[in-house]
Amino acid sequence: MRSDPLAYLDQDLNDMRAQGVYRPLRVLDGEQKAHTSIDHRSVVNLSSNNYLGLTTHPRLRERALEALQSFGVGTGSVRTIAGTMAIHVELERRLAVFKQTPAAVVFQSGFTANAGTVSSLLGRDDVIVSDELNHASIIDGARLSRATIKVFPHRDLAAARAILEGLPRSQRTLLITDGVFSMDGDLGALPELCDLADEFGCIMMVDDAHASGVFGRQGRGTVDHFGLHGRVDVQVGTLSKALGALGGYVAGSTSLIEFLHRRARPFLFSTSHPPSVAATCIAALDVLEQEPQWMEQLWSNTQFFKSGLQALGFDTGISESPITPVIVGDGARAMTLSDQLFEEGVFAQGIAFPTVAKDRARVRTIVTATHTRGELEFALGAFARVGRKLGIIGH
Ligand SMILES: Cc1ncc(COP(=O)(O)O)c(C=O)c1O
Repeated sequence: MRSDPLAYLDQDLNDMRAQGVYRPLRVLDGEQKAHTSIDHRSVVNLSSNNYLGLTTHPRLRERALEALQSFGVGTGSVRTIAGTMAIHVELERRLAVFKQTPAAVVFQSGFTANAGTVSSLLGRDDVIVSDELNHASIIDGARLSRATIKVFPHRDLAAARAILEGLPRSQRTLLITDGVFSMDGDLGALPELCDLADEFGCIMMVDDAHASGVFGRQGRGTVDHFGLHGRVDVQVGTLSKALGALGGYVAGSTSLIEFLHRRARPFLFSTSHPPSVAATCIAALDVLEQEPQWMEQLWSNTQFFKSGLQALGFDTGISESPITPVIVGDGARAMTLSDQLFEEGVFAQGIAFPTVAKDRARVRTIVTATHTRGELEFALGAFARVGRKLGIIGH
């Protein structure tokens, strides 16, 4: 009999079980909402990136249905052959206006926007200088580019400067940071990195996946938040988080976007968004412009919940955004905290190595604009009870 060539996978899975960090996927029974049913249990949901509650917003739903009726369910082609519909072009025009750049291009996801852009802009002779906590899609794009990758410790500007000083002045270099770091919720050192990019002539790039719809005027992101328009060459954003649907985009100069149309491999070799997704994203941009109450509510809920966790004595790290980690150290402990919260009716996912460092495992919470005060108070009550029971906070 043939022996199973994939047997080593079971070994890997068994190792995770032995370490107490293996968990089955949680399954939503209904919509992605602040209060929902997961694995047939009614829970306050603190784990989605649905910052503004747009996944179920009536205007987005209506526009998706209209586009579905008018244009069908799919595009049947990649963008460069027959898969560019007028609605894709309209979305890109709107995104460029939103980001205050001459042009924008949409990708199938934030992941492919980052990976496709970094891997096509840089090549074998180039250097990428990257914050150690940058997103996996940036890391994969950097690897695919075959450029030399130099990583500086998180937000360590002196270390970033030392790397740049060690390079020849003529070296083509990309300096890249997340706008908001997805596991710690802190902001990238964007103003200071822009100064370094100016001084050393680097291409400056930011991944604003968690900042779009959250920071800046009407959610324009960290470039707007810090007043850095015109100083960041490549801005990536996602349509999958605060904007409620799916996709990623790059905003920048016309040459950048025209280059990506012809060189970015996910754009060239993977089918474009269904028209309903593009229509949903346009509706989301309308909501950002016309309904400021969602961002206001998001920040009010963020302040309430973050200060509540801190008052209970939890270590919430250095977060400056609606992402608030509850850091417990050991991976198995984080999973136990998450499991016991779930039993209490609160879903907050445990995150362990390799997503975060081995001794920095956590439960990661994200509040949204649509959580009610009652739901957040209920969640804080559950955190207090379970945190005390597990000895994470005092009595
Ligand atoms: C910082 C960051 N960049 C990029 C992405 C990828 O975005 P998307 O989910 O649209 O692929 C994510 C999401 O997981 C993220 O957290």
